[in-house]
Amino acid sequence: NMQHIILCGGSGTRLWPLSNRQTPKQLLPLFEGNSLLQLAYLRNSIACDSVLAIVNEQHAATVEEQLLKSSATNLRLLAEPVGRNTAAAIALAAFVSEPETILLITPADHLIGTPDIYAHTIETAQSLAAGNSLVTIGLQPLYPETGFGYIQYSGHDVIRFVEKPDANNASIMVESGDFLWNSGIFCCKASILLQELKQYAPEIYETAALAADEWKRTGRLSLEAMENIPSTSIDYAVAEKSQRVKVVPSTMEWSDVGSYEALTEALVHHYQYQNHQAVFIGDGSGNNMVIGKEKLVALVGVEDMVVVNTPEALLIMKKGKGQEIKQLHQWVKENR
Ligand code: GDD
Ligand code: MG
Repeated sequence: NMQHIILCGGSGTRLWPLSNRQTPKQLLPLFEGNSLLQLAYLRNSIACDSVLAIVNEQHAATVEEQLLKSSATNLRLLAEPVGRNTAAAIALAAFVSEPETILLITPADHLIGTPDIYAHTIETAQSLAAGNSLVTIGLQPLYPETGFGYIQYSGHDVIRFVEKPDANNASIMVESGDFLWNSGIFCCKASILLQELKQYAPEIYETAALAADEWKRTGRLSLEAMENIPSTSIDYAVAEKSQRVKVVPSTMEWSDVGSYEALTEALVHHYQYQNHQAVFIGDGSGNNMVIGKEKLVALVGVEDMVVVNTPEALLIMKKGKGQEIKQLHQWVKENR
C-alpha cells in the first residue's frame, strides 16, 4: 500500500475573507461538515495505509485535529516554520519515508466529484509508480488557464511538461488537443523522487537532506534549515526536466476551488449547501450565494451575487469577478 502525502501549506488568498492566514481554505468545514483536507484524506484512505501531512506550523494543531476526527491512523505531521514551496515539502516527505514506499502526493485543497473514476485513476498511477515512473494525473483542459501545468502526452508517455505558460501558449496548447492539465497529484517511490531531485535540483536535495536529518534527531524542522532550502515548485524543479514522468489521463471531475465561482459551483451541485442566514426578495434567478453565519443577510432585487459574511469583513461580489479577490486581499493586507 501507499503512503498519502498531503501538501497542506496553502495560504488561501483567493477566498478572502472566508479564508485567511489563520484559516486557509483547506481547513474550512464547508462541505457537509468536512474540510477539503478531510475530504482529501478520506478519498485516499483506501489506497493508502499511512498519512504524512506537511503543514505550516501555525496550522499543525488544527490539521492534526481534523485528520484524527476523520479517523486517520498512522498519521505523521511535518510542521514547517516557513513554507519553501512544493519541491522542498515533497523532498522532506521523501527523506522521512522508506525508500521503496510509493508516495501518493496530493494537495489538501482540491475537490474531486467522481470518486470511482478517481480510485481507478490512482490504481493505474500506482502500478506505473511501482515501475519507477514519476506519475502525474492529467485532465482534459477546459480553458487556457495560465495558473496550471500542461502535459503534452501520448498514452501514458509524456512528451513535454510545461508549467504555467503565458496566455498565448496556453491557448495554443488547449487548441492543439495534445495537452492535458496537470492536476498537481503525483505518485512515485520515495527513492525515485530523491534520485530525480538529486539529479535536477541538487541544491534542494542537499539542503532538504540536512533539514530532514535534523528532524529525525530533534523532531523539529528549524527555521534556519528550512530557509536554506531553495523555494521552487516540484513542477519547475523536477516535472519539467525528468525523463521518468508518466501521465494517467483521467476523466474525473476535478476543481482546485480557486475562486468563489468554483466554490459556489461545488457547494450548489455537490453539497446541498443552504444559503446561511439569508433572505431574498425579488431575486428572479435565485442565483445568489451567501456564505457565513455572522448575521442575517437580506438581498433585495439583486442577482448573481456572492456575499461573504465574516467577522473580519463583508464581501459583496458579482459572480464572474472572482479572480480580482487576490488583488483585493493584497490591498487589504497593505492598507488595513
Ligand atoms: N506544506 C506545504 N509547504 N505545502 C505547500 C507549499 C509549502 O511550502 N507550497 C504549496 N503547498 C501546497 C498548496 O497548499 C497546494 O495544496 C499544493 O501544495 C500545490 O501548490 P500551489 O501553490 O497551489 O500550486 P499551483 O496551484 O500554483 O500549481 C500546482 O497545481 C496545479 C493544479 O492545481 C502545479 O502542480 C500545477 O502544475 C497544477 O496544474
Ligand atoms: Mg493551487
